[in-house]
Amino acid sequence: MKITPLQPEHFLPVIELGNLVHGDNYLDETGIEQMYQKGCKNGINASFVALGENGELLGFRTTYSAGQWPIDKWSSPTLWPVDENDMAYFKCIAIAPNAQGQGIGPQLLSHAVAALKQQGAKAGVSHLWKQSPGNGAVKYFTKAGGKLIKVHDDKWLDDCIYHGYVCTICGTQCHCQAAEMVLEF
Ligand SMILES: CC(C)(COP(=O)(O)OP(=O)(O)OC[C@H]1O[C@@H](n2cnc3c(N)ncnc32)[C@H](O)[C@@H]1OP(=O)(O)O)[C@@H](O)C(=O)NCCC(=O)NCCS
Repeated sequence: MKITPLQPEHFLPVIELGNLVHGDNYLDETGIEQMYQKGCKNGINASFVALGENGELLGFRTTYSAGQWPIDKWSSPTLWPVDENDMAYFKCIAIAPNAQGQGIGPQLLSHAVAALKQQGAKAGVSHLWKQSPGNGAVKYFTKAGGKLIKVHDDKWLDDCIYHGYVCTICGTQCHCQAAEMVLEF
């Protein structure tokens, strides 16, 4: 397995894996292109893919650099331990179902953290999918040192209503919760 920065050549398999793991219309070409751009700062790319021996995609981690993402109603900057200008965002992660539980997610995260530190960020915030299979999302982020800030209900419901997202658990009316968590570097 090798971990390498996300590049446009990976976009199609990344979209396919994201939609398989999270649900239809979770990712599309415009979305992944914008994510890629938001993670590049000072010539450093903070988004990564994990590739198998034959070059097949095993997982990906998209990341936004500090100062390059919008802080909206789902974020609680007054509860964060660092200034919002120093806060990066861990956007999406998905590991192929047959590769989950093997530590690939944590390795992708540590590559992202190393890149974010080089960019000058002091911490990263994320919305962890509380209903993820086996509670993998909260578990992996907690093991990495992530601290819970706040739980948000219906985080992805608007994506269903306005963008056709179909959650793998709830279908077209997603009521999954997001754990807003912060990892200080
Ligand atoms: C969450 C995720 C990124 C973690 O990456 P990973 O490489 O599987 O992480 P780890 O191997 O460190 O596993 C973390 C824990 O979750 C458990 N786990 C992961 N996937 C699991 C699954 N499908 N079923 C049951 N348990 C699972 C692991 O057994 C491990 O548990 P442990 O800490 O008790 O040993 C990955 O499992 C994944 O893509 N899951 C589906 C999509 C998802 O939840 N994305 C995150 C959205 S915020």
